[in-house]
Amino acid sequence: KLPAEVQAIEKFFYLTPERLNEIVKGFRTEFEDGLQNFGRDTAMIPSYCLNVPNGSEVGTFLALDLGGTNLRVCEVTLEGKNNFNVQQRKYKITDELKQGEARALFDYIADSVDSFLTDIGTEMDENEKIHLGFTFSFPVEQTALNKGKLLTWTKGFACKNAIGHDVVKLLQDALDRKHVHVRCSALVNDTVGTLLSRSYQSGPALIGAIFGTGTNGAYIDRVETITKLGETAITESKKGGKDAGEYMVVNTEWGAIDNQRKVLPVSMFDNKLDRESINPRKQAFEKMVSGMYLGEIVRNILLYLVDNLLLFSGYSSPILNTHYGFDTAFVSAIEAAKSAQEVKSAIFRELNIPENNISEQDVELVQWACQAVSTRAAALSACAVAAVVLHTKALDRSDPIDVGMDGSVAEFLPFFEERVRAALRDTIGQDAEQRVTFGLAKDGSGVGAALCALQAYKAEKQGL
Ligand code: BG6
Ligand code: GLC
Repeated sequence: KLPAEVQAIEKFFYLTPERLNEIVKGFRTEFEDGLQNFGRDTAMIPSYCLNVPNGSEVGTFLALDLGGTNLRVCEVTLEGKNNFNVQQRKYKITDELKQGEARALFDYIADSVDSFLTDIGTEMDENEKIHLGFTFSFPVEQTALNKGKLLTWTKGFACKNAIGHDVVKLLQDALDRKHVHVRCSALVNDTVGTLLSRSYQSGPALIGAIFGTGTNGAYIDRVETITKLGETAITESKKGGKDAGEYMVVNTEWGAIDNQRKVLPVSMFDNKLDRESINPRKQAFEKMVSGMYLGEIVRNILLYLVDNLLLFSGYSSPILNTHYGFDTAFVSAIEAAKSAQEVKSAIFRELNIPENNISEQDVELVQWACQAVSTRAAALSACAVAAVVLHTKALDRSDPIDVGMDGSVAEFLPFFEERVRAALRDTIGQDAEQRVTFGLAKDGSGVGAALCALQAYKAEKQGL
């Protein structure tokens, strides 16, 4: 039986259907507000990406991907027939680069592109400038497919002299400084890239979602719903069919939902995490859902149990006492463990607590903490998906409701999809839940960026 202190905190992690529905309602209100007004936290950013691919597109493009676990440079060959081929290299972004001058970060990126091109010996025609699609996984207020100002940093990045600047220009200037003959012709969020790549591979998707270091979703909406774009844009969109711009991909930036903390189940562990973070009172939803934070919430819970002499007989370890001392991989290992012995080994390996100091009760409490935190993360993820499904009235139509996903949480956290599905049943109902399909679009955003670069290239050729 769980100690009373533990029972008292369960309500923040196991959410009733009523609570989940309240959360979905709150999310929808924020979506609508963001579509009507600029400057909201849940920014509902028009991506200027109008064409969802159908899998027949062909061409070779470079793609750059900044904002997940690694910086990636890719050469993407769209082969048509829903196929593509990617050659890629990963480059590490140090904490120093993440928090130093923006110029240093972009110089490093340009150097990485340069060494990538040398490395792979590209066959792209270097007489014509090589087109690059830039997946930049942060909130950017876009004003065109290749233009947009950074609104704020998230996920541990805090470079100086970047907020308010056009990120395409920051990148292009660095490429030019380094004489790298590459043109950045499209800017995409990773969620938008994931949506496009999933659609390219397996037919039109409604949502592209990232459950990784951060979390966010993009979806397809009617331009007339994005009222903040103004009358002219809306009238234009109504003139043509689908390709002429009746629809646009919207990047929700749902990681920032409920920064006001009106509906989310904020516990003292979340509050501690938030006030000790580099961006307090920001990314409230992301801090309960994404891989950068799940380990840290668990750490806060374990420390609380240690301090109440309920866990490890009141002992801790330097790792347990260190801010971000372990990450979500620990949670995955505990969730995947098949026996008490496996749990003990993981605790020893990751937290450095000697196995003979770990009691059966300790094993149960650590499992409880990991399960509580990851169950809530999945349930809240489902709330975001449900809010999009209801907002777009997708259930009133008969077409499939497909969600392309990427990110380390979706890929590695055990039981993620089944827990998302359980909470979807609680919110949109069982029949609707069964209509929703999920598919991993692994490393998809590079392909999406290439598709956007193709869109920009075609527009340029037609002199648009
Ligand atoms: C990658 C995508 O595979 O997944 C990135 O290419 C995305 O664009 C990332 O940001 C998210 O996952 P993680 O776990 O690396 O943050
Ligand atoms: C953060 C970023 C967002 C990105 C997400 C997933 O929430 O603000 O732009 O899509 O992380 O990488």
